[in-house]
Amino acid sequence: ETRVISANELDMKEAVREAVALLSKGEVVALPTETVYGLGADATDAVAVAKVFEVKQRPSFDPLIVHIASVRDLPQVASVPEDIEKVFQKLISAFWPGPLTILLPKTEAIPDLVTSGLPTVAVRQSGSPIFRAIGRELGKPIAAPSANRFGRISPTSASAVVKELGGSIPLVVDGGACSNGLESTIIRIEAGEKRPEIHILRPGPVTKKELQNFGRVVIEKKRLIDEPADAPGQLASHYAPRTSLYLFDKPEEFKPEPGKRYGLMSYKGDPKAGYVNRHEWAKVESLSPGSGKLPEAAVRFFHVMRTLDEAGLDAIIAEPVSDVGLGQAIMDRLRRAATR
Ligand code: TXA
Ligand code: MG
Repeated sequence: ETRVISANELDMKEAVREAVALLSKGEVVALPTETVYGLGADATDAVAVAKVFEVKQRPSFDPLIVHIASVRDLPQVASVPEDIEKVFQKLISAFWPGPLTILLPKTEAIPDLVTSGLPTVAVRQSGSPIFRAIGRELGKPIAAPSANRFGRISPTSASAVVKELGGSIPLVVDGGACSNGLESTIIRIEAGEKRPEIHILRPGPVTKKELQNFGRVVIEKKRLIDEPADAPGQLASHYAPRTSLYLFDKPEEFKPEPGKRYGLMSYKGDPKAGYVNRHEWAKVESLSPGSGKLPEAAVRFFHVMRTLDEAGLDAIIAEPVSDVGLGQAIMDRLRRAATR
């Protein structure tokens, strides 16, 4: 059975002790990060890493992100090529600990299973003090994908992890709701001819605009390995609810079929106002009911998707958010979740 143990910045001793006891035995444990909950394993233990894939029911061995507790631990997992050293240092002083993942050449200590045979490893230092304390106490880097089953909605709370993986892992460390709510931004750095080039492989909480202070930013067209969004029907698309989801520029123009139950995922829509009221929505959830701003929408995104998915609807109609800054990261997830 899956145990849930609470932790916060002031009181995490017991959670750290229990998580480390399991991780050092080669078990996998769900851990809070500032982005989404991760399914952690000792990144240097290939057998433990194999368990991660088993629990996630991934159809293939996709590369995992390796989390370090301190920048001092970096040489253990990766090297920094000389020609990008300067920009790398600037980026990590600006964004670590935090939601920025950087691809670097891997060391021998990282098993091929972690990187799926690739010569590069994705590295980040999580902004969660609980996650870092567990890594520090373990004395090993932690490999962790999001703690959901393959192709499903990323969990942003301990209860969402239990819904995804309950029964198949021994422990969930409950650190409360994730403060960012979207998976980390993933980048690759190139020296470039005049200025460094920062290639974004997955948009996330660290935005294009923020990265532009450090070099020329290129948005990579090529999808990440486990996100075959360009191959409809081939594999479940990423971040997908079980209920069909349709993106509508103007939800007010949506023509419902009689007798069907539709849910609305609105951006700032106040359920009491405007078009939100014009249909008989079976359920309405706003991404940003409070501030009407993108950070709140990001934090609530996966929670709202899960809530609508659990409401027994015939379909979910989603309204786009503004496609700038954090909105680009939200739109990326929405497009992938949409039924094709
Ligand atoms: O915020 C996050 O990044 C969360 C938390 C737990 O840290 N983790 C996360 O992991 O989102 P995951 O496994 O759900 O997504 C990691 C993505 C995958 O699409 C994987 O293909 C890609 O990163 N990735 C990992 N290593 C890579 C590599 N060496 N080259 C290219 N892509 C890589
Ligand atoms: Mg994931």
